[in-house]
Amino acid sequence: MLPRVIPSILSVVFFFSFLFFVAALVMQFVRIDSPDLENEAVFNSAPYDVFVYSAFYFNQSKSLGESSIVILMTADFEVLDTIKKLDLLVINATNRGMAMAELERVTIHDACKWIAMTATAEVVKNPSLLFVSLGGNHAPIPFEVVSTDPKPVVMCISPLFAAENWQNLLVALHVYKRFGAHMHLYIRSVVSPMLEILRVYEQEGYVTLKPWNRINLLNRDERDFNPNLNVEFRSQAAAQTDCLLRYKEASEFIAFLDLDDLIIPRMANSYLNEFRFLAAENPSVAYFTYTKQNTRTRAYKRANVFSVEHVLRSVQFEQTTETGKMIAIPSKVNNTWIHWPHKTVKKLEVDPEINSITHFKHIDMLDGMGVDHERVPQYNPTTSGGDAEKPLISNKNLQMIEKDFNRMSWKSSIRRHLRSLPINMTYGKLINICYKESYYTFHAVNENHGMLCPGPERCDVSF
Ligand SMILES: *[C@@H]1O[C@H](CO)[C@@H](O)[C@H](O)[C@H]1NC(C)=O
Ligand SMILES: *[C@@H]1O[C@H](CO)[C@@H](O)[C@H](O)[C@H]1NC(C)=O
Ligand SMILES: *[C@@H]1O[C@H](CO)[C@@H](O)[C@H](O)[C@H]1NC(C)=O
Ligand SMILES: *[C@@H]1O[C@H](CO)[C@@H](O)[C@H](O)[C@H]1NC(C)=O
Repeated sequence: MLPRVIPSILSVVFFFSFLFFVAALVMQFVRIDSPDLENEAVFNSAPYDVFVYSAFYFNQSKSLGESSIVILMTADFEVLDTIKKLDLLVINATNRGMAMAELERVTIHDACKWIAMTATAEVVKNPSLLFVSLGGNHAPIPFEVVSTDPKPVVMCISPLFAAENWQNLLVALHVYKRFGAHMHLYIRSVVSPMLEILRVYEQEGYVTLKPWNRINLLNRDERDFNPNLNVEFRSQAAAQTDCLLRYKEASEFIAFLDLDDLIIPRMANSYLNEFRFLAAENPSVAYFTYTKQNTRTRAYKRANVFSVEHVLRSVQFEQTTETGKMIAIPSKVNNTWIHWPHKTVKKLEVDPEINSITHFKHIDMLDGMGVDHERVPQYNPTTSGGDAEKPLISNKNLQMIEKDFNRMSWKSSIRRHLRSLPINMTYGKLINICYKESYYTFHAVNENHGMLCPGPERCDVSF
């Protein structure tokens, strides 16, 4: 049995937007009894339903050409064997035209029954209506016009689920801001004071918040088939691709990170200059990977004494690494899985001596207060000894970050929610245990049988 998260005193709020539609492409209904959700028969009885996350119109794209549409969706991977293209009907003020949108796989493996995919087509200019056309029937798809408003560096953060780690969030918001990145955050559910605080940071331009929906099939009962149990980590690859598409024309570099991953530039004074330096040295690459260096740090449990500077000054590298994350040049990548794109494009594995991700793997939660302003955090990756001359982050940057954090936390709109932030974490621990049991133990020994499709949905059906 997998553990269930016990609902605790803290309320978790959901962040909803309206749901996009569901197209039933080929109906192949097989009645399944609910206790059999995990068994072979379910896996083999594919329902050809498609859930559309988002659709984007590119007026003028560096890589997708003039006037194109990309539809991002999730469906059974078997769909790709049967269907190569979607028929689109696209209408503008003067014309209407049919287009064939080519399906492309995003997720690199078949460990989960439902994978992310895109459909791309060139369409009539300035469309007002988009339909998927099926046997003479047309299903309307709402779409967004992709923004070209410049955001040179974007940090796409994978969807938060029952999130309560506000310490990580505050550190990330301030570090990204300091070094010139815009944070784009997907939310399934967070504890309510965190959401209230995030809304203020959004108003101040630190972050864009977007809901990340559960998959909700209009034509099927979840007790028969629940696609949410059959996508990898709440469809993280689709979330990353959504973020990539949103900023494809607006940004020069897009990083795909978890909330506890932090990049701190070392080659330059900003993300943009560091990434431009790497791109200039390696002009043919489509993306870079930074390794994840695990670290241990400390943070105050209570928000009224919490300090971003304290967390950053306390970082110690643990000399262990995990699979890295990527930073894409969006004109050279059209979609991406969690760690790399399905399509083979040229990559640069950045040497940890140059830089890597500071992964907040372990955080000791402290009761006290105060900051040792003398402690200088060293950059100590697995491949080299620390360079005392070049710490993880400079004193000046630490001071500027703390000052900005103080400015924000003194706002009454934030201050009033600080006291409601959780002191003891409950959800994170339980979800970690569940991940371990359902995924990481198998992953670790490279053994695929017995592995369930990983994701937090398994840990609690009530979220
Ligand atoms: C698309 O670009 C053209 C110029 O290239 C412009 O006239 C038109 O208004 C743009 N359409 C949209 C929807 O932004
Ligand atoms: C991205 O899409 C465009 C248009 O379909 C295509 O020409 C280009 O080769 C694609 N790039 C990659 C890396 O797949
Ligand atoms: C509609 O699409 C056609 C074909 O792309 C284009 O020539 C025409 O200008 C478009 N109409 C408007 C109003 O944008
Ligand atoms: C947090 O945990 C500690 C030790 O387990 C306990 O004494 C304390 O009452 C808890 N505080 C809250 C607010 O739940």
